[in-house]
Amino acid sequence: MDMKRTAFILLLLASFLKIQAQDEKMNLFIDDLMSKMTTDEKIGQLNLTTSGEYVTGSTINDKVQQKLQAGKIGGMLNASLPSMKASMDVAIKESPHHIPLLFGMDVIHGYQTIFPIPLAMSCMWDMSLEEKSARIAAREATANGIAWTYSPMVDIARDPRWGRIAEGAGEDPWLGSQVAKALVKGYQGNDLSLDNTMMACVKHFALYGAAEAGRDYNTVDMSRVSMYNYYLPPYKAAVDAGVGSVMTSFNVIDGVPSTGNHWLLTDLLRNQWGFKGFVVTDYTAVNEMINHGLGDLQTVSALALKAGTDMDMVGEGFLTTLKKSLDEGRITINDIDIACRRILEAKYKLGLFSDPYRYMNAERAKTDVMTPENLKAAREIATRSMVLLKNDKHILPLKKSGTIAVIGPLGDSKNDMIGTWAFAGGKDKVSSVVDGLKNIGGSAVKVLYAKGSELTDNPVLLKNDSPFFPGQKKASEPVISSEQLRKEAIQTAEKADVIVAVLGEPSSWSGEASSMSDISIQKVQQNLLKALLATGKPVVLVLINGRPMTLAWEDANVSSILEAWAGGTEAGNAVASILFGDYNPSGKLTTTFPLSVGQIPLYYNHLNTGRPMDPNNKFTSKYLDISNNPLYPFGYGLSYTTFDYSDIKLNKNRLNGDETLIATVTLTNTGKMAGEEVVQLYIQDPEASISRPVKELKNFTKVMLQPGEKKDINFEITTNDLKFYNSDLKYDWEPGEFIIYIGSNSRDVKSTKVNRVK
Ligand code: BGC
Repeated sequence: MDMKRTAFILLLLASFLKIQAQDEKMNLFIDDLMSKMTTDEKIGQLNLTTSGEYVTGSTINDKVQQKLQAGKIGGMLNASLPSMKASMDVAIKESPHHIPLLFGMDVIHGYQTIFPIPLAMSCMWDMSLEEKSARIAAREATANGIAWTYSPMVDIARDPRWGRIAEGAGEDPWLGSQVAKALVKGYQGNDLSLDNTMMACVKHFALYGAAEAGRDYNTVDMSRVSMYNYYLPPYKAAVDAGVGSVMTSFNVIDGVPSTGNHWLLTDLLRNQWGFKGFVVTDYTAVNEMINHGLGDLQTVSALALKAGTDMDMVGEGFLTTLKKSLDEGRITINDIDIACRRILEAKYKLGLFSDPYRYMNAERAKTDVMTPENLKAAREIATRSMVLLKNDKHILPLKKSGTIAVIGPLGDSKNDMIGTWAFAGGKDKVSSVVDGLKNIGGSAVKVLYAKGSELTDNPVLLKNDSPFFPGQKKASEPVISSEQLRKEAIQTAEKADVIVAVLGEPSSWSGEASSMSDISIQKVQQNLLKALLATGKPVVLVLINGRPMTLAWEDANVSSILEAWAGGTEAGNAVASILFGDYNPSGKLTTTFPLSVGQIPLYYNHLNTGRPMDPNNKFTSKYLDISNNPLYPFGYGLSYTTFDYSDIKLNKNRLNGDETLIATVTLTNTGKMAGEEVVQLYIQDPEASISRPVKELKNFTKVMLQPGEKKDINFEITTNDLKFYNSDLKYDWEPGEFIIYIGSNSRDVKSTKVNRVK
């Protein structure tokens, strides 16, 4: 034991000394370089420019070529490989100190092998597969010039009107923190200096997901208690996992835009959390502070630098005004030096000074991209991301024989399978639902297809639907009348044994700048569904979408519903594996599906009110016209088999101080198929110094059981699971009663009480 301990300590010491030696070498290199750089060149390093190829706002920067030659560009985002290569050539050969460029891209859910949108992936409740998705994305992207990704996006979102809910891991801070860690680890690996790992960038710091009314870029206003307990944990988890960079958000915090918020970027991020990497703004976020009302471009640029922002994305506020601010004494050379050093450190750690072209590896681009293993992982991840919402009459799984009519505007779409953010996504390899049913069903299955309806006939939506990205298609104006499309679909359906209706939202309706006030299935699609149900044939509804939708009517009228999200390259094959029962679904929702938009924000870990809902008492917290409850709660998802939970057994009912509590349930597979269950542990602290949520997820485990098999599931609960930030923002637990819940989702749980004294 002692020998082992000594060996361990020696190992730690050795790795510490190695890191110190490496840091010293890096510092000497950067000291030397910076001693030769002019102030303009140092400011140039803080300038992140766009190539103008894939954009999410206006392209402010111009004369890129001249700026590269003058050393006025530190990095470039979202550029194609030829343009990255050409720009690197100029920086290396023609700029004064030949400093390599840092190339970044929004590699959010895969590079060319596209995985499901992040919200979908979170429904796997599987951190090793989350990590694997990021590892594959890093391997593919780093062969194609990318050293830096703008991921993970870890914004907690409680509002499905906000299109960017698609990009994160849902509404829970604990689960969101696990995902944040896994993704950082996947992108960065253990060694950032390898040529197949890339630097991650956690975003959007902070609280971006709490935009008022779910409208993108809107105001955020939140108490510190809510920030610390519910919104900040995933960003902190990414920092603790060693994320190399942080992106600011577009919103204000306490009235000050994140990009110019000293409390956020320096007091919290660097001083409290110990972040050592660099901070980049979001797209033109410095300039946007003018609209926020913080002053002119020179003022807001100086404010951003002083607050702790190091790199300015696209807006050129730093490039065009910092020198003047320095001359006028608004900022110091030390402010510029600190930021410049952080950017150079990132480039050094990525190995760009040793070989600026190390991430442009034509050989690896052939061997490491879209490989059969990558596609296999994409299939597995897509299959595990999908959530079975209903299967009352057991129409599913389908037999691999007979005729299936796939009906709906998303039934044979490839583009809409890859979701938001898929710049490089190899579209030709994507499987649609029709493709999937043919591939997986085999020769005894006949698959027919009819479109049945347009995506929408809402003129405002049609006009606004302006996708930014290659791969996203605009919803088209109806050319054939709805009646005609429906008629053709019914004729096709009549020839089939079962109808698979594929409805929902195209890729361009979620993601950035894609807020919606109505999150139900569009009227034209709903009318199609009604007509399909009227045929009397069995109907399975497959939803393709990037956000929770309001599905009260569908839930009441369709007996089988599969939430398939935008599942990536292998989406169609994954849908088919589930529909045919080759894979027994195990995904669970990580965000609440409301009954109606009027209930939003609706989330499981809310506080109690002083007047909890009582349907028989008017003067309680409720709506007159609708229940408070969601349609599908957080954690919900069905399987083709069924599971039984025993009551909870505890090792103790009263604990002293730090004693560990063990809570056990026996889980039994009571159905006829082998299946996996996500067993979820929630805790409530009903007597505390501040009001605490009615339930909080604290742990889970995913278990595979054969039919009839039983297993004891143990959760160890320590005081760490009970800690929260009180009104003085002190992080600790408080003694008293706790309620332990274990179950298959946040609603359906067993519960028991325990007391813990200090
Ligand atoms: C988005 C970021 C993204 C950036 C670069 C912005 O508009 O908010 O999430 O990383 O553009 O594309």
